[in-house]
Amino acid sequence: MGGQSFDSGSAINHSRMPSRIAQIRKVCSHPEVYDPCDDSFALVDALLADRSNLLEHEPKICMEIGCGSGYVITSLALMLGKESPGSFYIATDVNPDAVATTQKTLQAHEVDAEVVTCDIASGLEHRLAGMVDVMVVNPPYVPTPEDEVGGDGITAAWAGGIDGRTVIDRILPVADNLLSDKGWLYMVTLTTNNPSQICLKMKEWGYASRIIVQRSTEEESLHIIKFWRDFPSSRSLPRPGSGHLGVKGSLLSQLSRLQFWGSGSGSS
Ligand SMILES: C[S@@+](CC[C@H](N)C(=O)[O-])C[C@H]1O[C@@H](n2cnc3c(N)ncnc32)[C@H](O)[C@@H]1O
Repeated sequence: MGGQSFDSGSAINHSRMPSRIAQIRKVCSHPEVYDPCDDSFALVDALLADRSNLLEHEPKICMEIGCGSGYVITSLALMLGKESPGSFYIATDVNPDAVATTQKTLQAHEVDAEVVTCDIASGLEHRLAGMVDVMVVNPPYVPTPEDEVGGDGITAAWAGGIDGRTVIDRILPVADNLLSDKGWLYMVTLTTNNPSQICLKMKEWGYASRIIVQRSTEEESLHIIKFWRDFPSSRSLPRPGSGHLGVKGSLLSQLSRLQFWGSGSGSS
């Protein structure tokens, strides 16, 4: 975010994959809308890295909260494409200029999606409760004074309040409500957001978690975390071959991640 230069590491060269993801030259922009940046690219890289699992997942409803330019939801639709013909895409943003820009980006790539101006998923929660199989979120995660949070212009793209957690902490229960039994959530976080605490909170709600992509600068570390329901009692088990580690494996994985976050070193 903010033009930081993340270590490209294992980053996928997007310019070589025009048919799988949105083409930057066709992504529309607007002065009040967040342009695709390192965090957007990392999120799309995470989705690409998990693409075979996503195809096997056969998502019926894919949703993005905070769609900005439309780069991520368009890329998701393109990468699943004809191999997932039954998927429906929906995106929201609190910024009406972002909604208009996303619609143009979708059209430029001949992709269909419903795009809604709303606060997180306000007005959609009844309709979509328990139905979203894939949710993607690149939230406003930059720590800012609390009074900067809550706008609907470009500041909404980054203003995250205390520890950058104010909007994230409002999105998580909405995600829990909207995700289906087999639902997956992919979320961007920074180290300053305390991702281990986010994972523990989600664990209390029955979710396992795993880092799909990590990018680092000298100042901070960015993670794309995948969450999925981990308890079979009231929810379905992860499908065989979905790439998940199962209850025991996922918790062990999570513990090792917590150690990683605690020590401030390691890699994904
Ligand atoms: C970091 S930008 C990400 C944009 C785009 N998803 C990307 O990755 O390039 C965060 C987006 O979330 C939107 N946003 C912030 N608060 C929101 C809220 N309460 N409800 C819906 N969208 C919100 C912002 O307007 C902005 O477009």
